[in-house]
Amino acid sequence: MVEHTLSLLIPKEKIEVRVKELAWLISSDYAGRRPVILGVLKGSFMFLADLLRHLTVDPLVDFIAVSSYRNGTTSSGRCFLTKNISCDICHKDVLLVEDIVDTGTTFRFLIGHIRDHAPSSLKICTLLDKPSRRAHAIPIDYCGFTISDDFVVGYGLDCDEQYRSLPGIYILKKQ
Ligand code: PRP
Repeated sequence: MVEHTLSLLIPKEKIEVRVKELAWLISSDYAGRRPVILGVLKGSFMFLADLLRHLTVDPLVDFIAVSSYRNGTTSSGRCFLTKNISCDICHKDVLLVEDIVDTGTTFRFLIGHIRDHAPSSLKICTLLDKPSRRAHAIPIDYCGFTISDDFVVGYGLDCDEQYRSLPGIYILKKQ
């Protein structure tokens, strides 16, 4: 069995502060409008829930789920939808909310998919950005934290479905 070591990268108090700041920015940018906030499952669920609690606009909330064929922890570059959106986003302001942008493979696929539905605008919000591994340029509009090339878990992020419920973000090392 593989042993894991976790070391704290971002404590929950720091996440709380940054999520409030992002919510303030988003509320200000979408003031007077009703955006569709699309959470990308599964990893974004905790970030999205906290973000929504601090918004001063009243968004329509929906979810989309994507999977990619992976070799261990590395994306193969091929994605497929496991849950499509369930609302009409044509001529709507759409904000995609993710937990992490890593290679950018997932977002490249999602941006193409969402644009096919003809929204009037499309913006991207991610809690974590790991630019060192980027294979595709992704226009991020709202970013919580930029991190280095470490495998992270907690606050929605998992390793083989472990550690999603941790309140902080941790670097995971396999022994
Ligand atoms: C993670 C994360 C992003 C994606 C980012 O999802 O939630 O969706 O990887 O990686 P990329 O930029 O290299 O595409 P994962 O496939 O682990 O699924 P999960 O959200 O259900 O845990």
